[in-house]
Amino acid sequence: MDAMTRSNDTFNDMSGVIAADRAHIWHHLAQHKPFETVDPRIIVEGKGLRVWDAKGKEHIDAVSGGVWTVNVGYGRESIAKAIYDQVLKMNFFGGAAGSVPGALFAEKLIAKMPGLSRVYYANSGSEANEKAFKMIRQISARHHGGKKYKILYRNRDYHGSTLATMSAGGQNERNAQYGPFAPGFVEVPHCMEYRKQWDVENYGLRAADAIEEVILREGPDTVGGLCLEPMTAGGGVITPPEGYWDRVQEICQKYNILLHIDEVVCGMGRTGTWMGYQNYGIKPDFVSLAKGVASGYAAISCMVTTEAVFDMFKDDPNDPLSYFRDISTFGGCTAGPAAALENMRILEDEDLLGNTLRMEKRLMGNLSNLMDKHRVIGDVRGKGLFCGAELVADRGTKEPADEKKVAAVVADCAAQGVLIGMTNRSLTGLNNTLTFAPPLIATGDDIDAITHAVDIALTKVFS
Ligand SMILES: Cc1ncc(COP(=O)(O)O)c(C=O)c1O
Repeated sequence: MDAMTRSNDTFNDMSGVIAADRAHIWHHLAQHKPFETVDPRIIVEGKGLRVWDAKGKEHIDAVSGGVWTVNVGYGRESIAKAIYDQVLKMNFFGGAAGSVPGALFAEKLIAKMPGLSRVYYANSGSEANEKAFKMIRQISARHHGGKKYKILYRNRDYHGSTLATMSAGGQNERNAQYGPFAPGFVEVPHCMEYRKQWDVENYGLRAADAIEEVILREGPDTVGGLCLEPMTAGGGVITPPEGYWDRVQEICQKYNILLHIDEVVCGMGRTGTWMGYQNYGIKPDFVSLAKGVASGYAAISCMVTTEAVFDMFKDDPNDPLSYFRDISTFGGCTAGPAAALENMRILEDEDLLGNTLRMEKRLMGNLSNLMDKHRVIGDVRGKGLFCGAELVADRGTKEPADEKKVAAVVADCAAQGVLIGMTNRSLTGLNNTLTFAPPLIATGDDIDAITHAVDIALTKVFS
């Protein structure tokens, strides 16, 4: 790894860049009114898990590029070189043809995903999810007389920003004002035990049974797929309760429903296993991957499926409509798989999955200590290096903390030079969870620096 220092020549005069940004950029997920008086954040350089903004201010990045993507950290020369070498030789050819890094990365990926065997390349998490939706629809059309077309999704889960993935989106604030949505998507209840919907002993079983209730209500012969995050990420960092996943798997088998796991956030080591679902013994039919696949060095996403699903699309070569008639132009870019191959080598050679598990203990331990000190922390949850601290006004009633105050904690940490996140425009009244997802290279000292900043911010904002 390079030394974690920035170069000296980058920050000489950023005023032109800032002016161009203010004049022309429409930032993601941002209300722009404040930018009339405050400069937008522009990130100029990154090394390890530190980033520098246009004013030269250094930040520890506990959000892996804002949206949990840069798993192996910034400034990786070997990934830059892998991309350079590949694109010089062959940068792009449409995905109806193969590519050298495409084939080699698929082989390496599949070796980590027993039971799965086929990789379909695209370039965003939303798009990868839509590939699975389309396959489920086509399987319904070809094998179930078009009847088994419904796709279930879970309240609080998020699967992307396109209209089809928003139709499978369980976050009301993300969806508000963008309807009407596509028909054929049906919501099932979330499984978050901290905010119980049922007063029962075995919460995991009860929450999974709620999915079966929806299937029975809709008619099992109309439900083709169930799309779930292994651990709900942006919807509140929700770890599944004991017994939940075994029962979900049973239900899918019972009603012949294809199980689609959205690993866009949890995939590629984020939870300390290659895939989040591997923590729970799940056997998925579809797995979608994006963010950490190439750690943001190139745009790439993958929809991974089984040979059984693949075979269904070649069983009648005489039918011109029998195969998957889908294309993703930039799924043919070779920079993505070239970067992904090197990204995976780094994850393995540097034992970043092992580091993630070690640092999970440190992060969860530190957050639990903060919980002892700050009554505003109502719950601490997470897996690997994706953890959350839910802030509440009252521990007894679990009334969520004022969202503006939660945002003030995030802002104060940023002022201290530590970037943390919070659940953002997800569910009304429930944007109250601080989120922590540093690059998987984080050290114990980095984790301590992150939680120290949170300690100071909580004291300032809530006392
Ligand atoms: C769980 C999950 N699925 C899908 C997506 C969509 O990915 P993308 O923004 O690459 O389309 C996201 C994005 O945050 C996500 O968190």
